[in-house]
Amino acid sequence: MSKPSFEEIFDIQRKINIVDVIRDYIPLTKKGKNYFGICPFHDDHNPSMSVSPEKQMYKCFVCGAAGNVFNFVKDYKNINYYEAVKEVADKVGISIDIGSYKPKEDIKFKDEYDIYEISNKFYQNNLNTPLGKIARNYLASRDITEDIIKRFQIGLSFNDNKLVSLLESKGYSKDLLVKSGISVINDEGKLSDIYRNRIMFPLWDTNGKVIGFSGRIYEGSDTSKYINTMETDIFKKGSLLYNYENAKKSVLEKDEIIICEGFMDVIRLYTIGVTNAVATMGTAVTKEQLNLIRKLTNNVILLFDGDKAGEKATLSFIELSKNIDFNLSIVRLEEDLDPDDYIIKKGKDKMLEHLSKPMNAFDYALINLKNNYNFNNPEDVSKFITSISEKLSNIDDDVIRDLEIKKISKLTDVDPDIIKSKIKVKTREDTHTINKVDVKFGVKFKENKYDKATDVILFNMIRHNNIIQYYFNNLSYLPDELDRKLASEIVLFFKKYNSFNLVDFITYLGDNSELVKRVSEIDSLPYSENYSMEEIDNCFDTIKEFSNKKQIENLQAKLKAETNDVVRKEIAKKIIDIKMGKN
Ligand code: UTP
Ligand code: MN
Repeated sequence: MSKPSFEEIFDIQRKINIVDVIRDYIPLTKKGKNYFGICPFHDDHNPSMSVSPEKQMYKCFVCGAAGNVFNFVKDYKNINYYEAVKEVADKVGISIDIGSYKPKEDIKFKDEYDIYEISNKFYQNNLNTPLGKIARNYLASRDITEDIIKRFQIGLSFNDNKLVSLLESKGYSKDLLVKSGISVINDEGKLSDIYRNRIMFPLWDTNGKVIGFSGRIYEGSDTSKYINTMETDIFKKGSLLYNYENAKKSVLEKDEIIICEGFMDVIRLYTIGVTNAVATMGTAVTKEQLNLIRKLTNNVILLFDGDKAGEKATLSFIELSKNIDFNLSIVRLEEDLDPDDYIIKKGKDKMLEHLSKPMNAFDYALINLKNNYNFNNPEDVSKFITSISEKLSNIDDDVIRDLEIKKISKLTDVDPDIIKSKIKVKTREDTHTINKVDVKFGVKFKENKYDKATDVILFNMIRHNNIIQYYFNNLSYLPDELDRKLASEIVLFFKKYNSFNLVDFITYLGDNSELVKRVSEIDSLPYSENYSMEEIDNCFDTIKEFSNKKQIENLQAKLKAETNDVVRKEIAKKIIDIKMGKN
């Protein structure tokens, strides 16, 4: 079997609740009948995605992403529709066989992915050979056990060109091997391995595929500590976080993520049972990385190195994420230690204690800001108050804000009322306006009368079976091609099952995301649930008027081009007939 039938897919759909599935990927909050979350399909800052348990649909009223549970999983995980069906089926313990069904989109960069998979196995194997003994000793000296080596797929590169030879023997071209960042052309014009004598840490993309490496020196210290894969078609350092895919489950379970700088920190944390950590890998956090985090949770603990650089990274993370609804908290480690060294030196319990009571982001910013001012100097105090007021205005919770104001007042001797007067409090309405918009009104009325008639017709077709039949008998046409296709699918579905319901219909549309999006847009139009036949007839007339206009335009163009008088007469008659309503 290659593809499951949509009857089978209906069946899976009936056994699950879309809310439970989407919750596995993004945090949802209940509001009224529906659930809301940050939309993972655009750069969302407020919960713009609603999930309806009643309709078993999700819809983002900012970017328009919409569909059923399968469409969500497909787009979220960037897999094909049938893989998504399988994934959801697995969750409810139904096993389906998507067998040989191979999607087109997977072929993109397939060679690059394969090269990295082969290289990863190759390096892992090297570490187990006799020549790998020194590297194994190094790892052992850092308390990296066999288990951890396996878990993080740690490998080893030797000072030779065996990897490129292997890859060339498998038929990969020179160009590709260079372009993919796994080898370089040396002075003699020959391909050579890039990584030499390094302990190899594979880097995975957000789907868990190996797309690059970071190689660490372990003997001597003459060259840079780590060498990373260059940016390639598949490796973009700024759009991944080390260990993201591995940590996903744990982050979702704990509803909390820990961000470190180095991957050694993540690995060490794993050894003490902290499995929800990821690493930015030494560079300043990017917006893309923030989005990756936000997809999983809003509760973020920053666990950067205890040194000055770690402090800088912490502050820049706070700054960059200030418009995101994160509950940020911060752990600062003593003695300039990084989390890895800290655990080795101070022990597991000390680290766990730190993680269990992190500082809130405001307090952290306060401590840092304070150091830049001299409170014996009134001008400095004034500048400090101005500066801190801005940060205070970002605190949503007025109780917390009040407590912080009192703290600052004590610290500076400035009256709390004066501090308050400096704060321009952003109300919830400023930051969460979108929440106030009823989802139903996310889609606007159309200006153009033909578009409007189309909307009304489709809106009623998906609600009233008799209108489907009526459309089929009396119109069977809509000006817009996508809408026409949608209407015809509605009719087909209705003819096949003798009734129509939206949930199953969306499943039936399956992979056709354009139609899924359009039908959910139609569904959420702000029209009344009641209709009159007169209104429907009016819409049909409007569409007919459009279709006549189009036909006349076409015929007039023909007439212009036609030289034969007999034919011209025929065309002219047709035009008159249409104008008289005789077509
Ligand atoms: P660190 O220098 O803090 O590394 O850099 P580390 O985690 O403590 O590593 P060990 O303990 O010395 O083995 C943090 C991150 O910055 C990147 C790496 O991703 C590292 O995990 N980095 C560091 C580089 O890319 N290149 C370098 O030369 C150094
Ligand atoms: Mn370290």
